[in-house]
Amino acid sequence: MKILVTYLSKTGNTKKIADAIYGEIKEKKEIKRYDKVQSLEGYDLTFVGFPIHGYGPDGKAKKFLENQCKGKKIILFITHASSENHEALPGYLAKFREASEGTDLVGMFNCQGELAKGVKFIMKMMVGNPLRKFALEDNSKGQPDAERVNRAKVFTRDIMRVLYNWQKIGENSVTYSTGSN
Ligand SMILES: Cc1cc2nc3c(=O)[nH]c(=O)nc-3n(C[C@H](O)[C@H](O)[C@H](O)COP(=O)(O)O)c2cc1C
Repeated sequence: MKILVTYLSKTGNTKKIADAIYGEIKEKKEIKRYDKVQSLEGYDLTFVGFPIHGYGPDGKAKKFLENQCKGKKIILFITHASSENHEALPGYLAKFREASEGTDLVGMFNCQGELAKGVKFIMKMMVGNPLRKFALEDNSKGQPDAERVNRAKVFTRDIMRVLYNWQKIGENSVTYSTGSN
């Protein structure tokens, strides 16, 4: 099993989560920025990380998911300045799922990541733009904190265990029924 961790990170938050995930992987592994990845051929599984930009994936994220990830087993990890319990967050995350159509998306992790000071400053100047309200309500300072980094580690260990169990089921040709017939 060979695993790739790849990410887009403008201000370091998604990279921090990428590094935490990478540290938990026990198999043969590589970590690379998304723009250094030519192809996902040769990897059995890829963890793909992006920040939310403008309420969903930005053009680069969409392009990477559409062009590189089709037909590939991937796990998404997403950082965002919105609180994890923000009512609009499921909608933003759904856009990543939509952009992953045609991939074999087997898991998803998300956590809060600090809205960089410079970005926040610019957003606050954008009178009439919904991102202004977003910046004014921001509560993401210091994220992802140690607790969130740990959540990413636990997520990685858990999902790797599940994937290994699936693999074992496949290898041993064990079948199981989930329905009544
Ligand atoms: C241009 C821009 C747009 C953003 N739009 C959103 C957004 O719609 N929703 C959100 O929760 N966070 C938004 N953010 C915040 C980032 O998703 C968040 O700070 C993320 O952790 C940044 O990750 P990075 O440090 O890896 O670049 C935006 C940030 C930027 C720079």
